[in-house]
Amino acid sequence: MNDQKNLLSIKNLTIHYKTGGNIVHAVDNLDLDLGHGETLGFVGETGAGKTTTALGIMGLIPNPPGKIINGQVFFKGEDLLKKKHKEMRSIRGKEIAMIFQDPMTSLDPVMNVGDQIAEMIRIHEQITKDKALEKAEVMLETVGIRKDRSKDYPHQFSGGMKQRVGIAIALACNPKLIIADEPTTALDVTIQAQVLELMKSLKEKYDTSMILITHDLGIVAEICDKVAIMYAGNVVEYSDKNSLYLNPLHPYTNGLFQSIPDIEKDVDKLNTIKGLAPDPTNLPKGCTFHPRCPKALPVCSEKKPDNVMVEPNHYVKCFLYN
Ligand SMILES: Nc1ncnc2c1ncn2[C@@H]1O[C@H](COP(=O)(O)OP(=O)(O)OP(=O)(O)O)[C@@H](O)[C@H]1O
Ligand SMILES: [Mg+2]
Repeated sequence: MNDQKNLLSIKNLTIHYKTGGNIVHAVDNLDLDLGHGETLGFVGETGAGKTTTALGIMGLIPNPPGKIINGQVFFKGEDLLKKKHKEMRSIRGKEIAMIFQDPMTSLDPVMNVGDQIAEMIRIHEQITKDKALEKAEVMLETVGIRKDRSKDYPHQFSGGMKQRVGIAIALACNPKLIIADEPTTALDVTIQAQVLELMKSLKEKYDTSMILITHDLGIVAEICDKVAIMYAGNVVEYSDKNSLYLNPLHPYTNGLFQSIPDIEKDVDKLNTIKGLAPDPTNLPKGCTFHPRCPKALPVCSEKKPDNVMVEPNHYVKCFLYN
């Protein structure tokens, strides 16, 4: 389907990893949409498959052990999973860019930061090295780093500044979509707030769409328009931010909200979601959340719930609403 209404539209995406005879069901029939200019918060526990989904969109699943088993990733109406390696290389950076949790993953330790930004620009634009370096300096200033630091190497910068350089590289070619995978988790809380504020303002300035992967529902509340709650490789609830915060539907989403510490309440009453995330090599039958679900019905261990629209722009996969 050629779905031009959305910038990104993922259908039935299924990604496995093969490890020592076992198959890890990292992403399991995932559907997800992102409109033009929107910011989507992608939330879920460790191991839920958030990074794997991001790598799947970018065409960067390590194969082996990873493999895309099924699905479509429509970007501007075209299925990225059908693109050749060479086509994906020209889409990465130019159309879709990624910001990683640890800025050192994306930075080259032996190249100065100005050259790194310029290199990204020259992969995608036919301009001279000098012009690219000039542009790189403008990008550095855009992310709040003085341009006379462009000859410095990554180790000469603080963690927050390294992440700003990562943002400069991601934005250098003005991509349509930025995927930020826990971009502030490795930073101090005060620096986190500055980097998030920067990302929010640059996103508006450059009119990019963004997928922000995070564990933190507070960050989602600050920045996002839409939210996808991910559990065991699947999006279990997808909604406008306001509907989700006013009216969380899925028992897992409710569990996430209840496990946010509230300074006005007694600490003893902090609720955590009981039980552990399922073994991804052996997912439970039916709804994968049913063994931990306080509201599970008999049907939940038998059948997979459909995606139900409960109110406009608010979808949930749960038999309580079927
Ligand atoms: N290269 C790999 N080889 C084998 N299994 C992998 C690989 N990468 C991820 N996995 C498995 O796939 C599942 C999903 O992992 P993924 O990294 O996508 O989760 P995540 O939601 O990003 O978690 P986190 O919040 O910890 O970053 C996990 O069970 C993980 O162990
Ligand atoms: Mg991850």
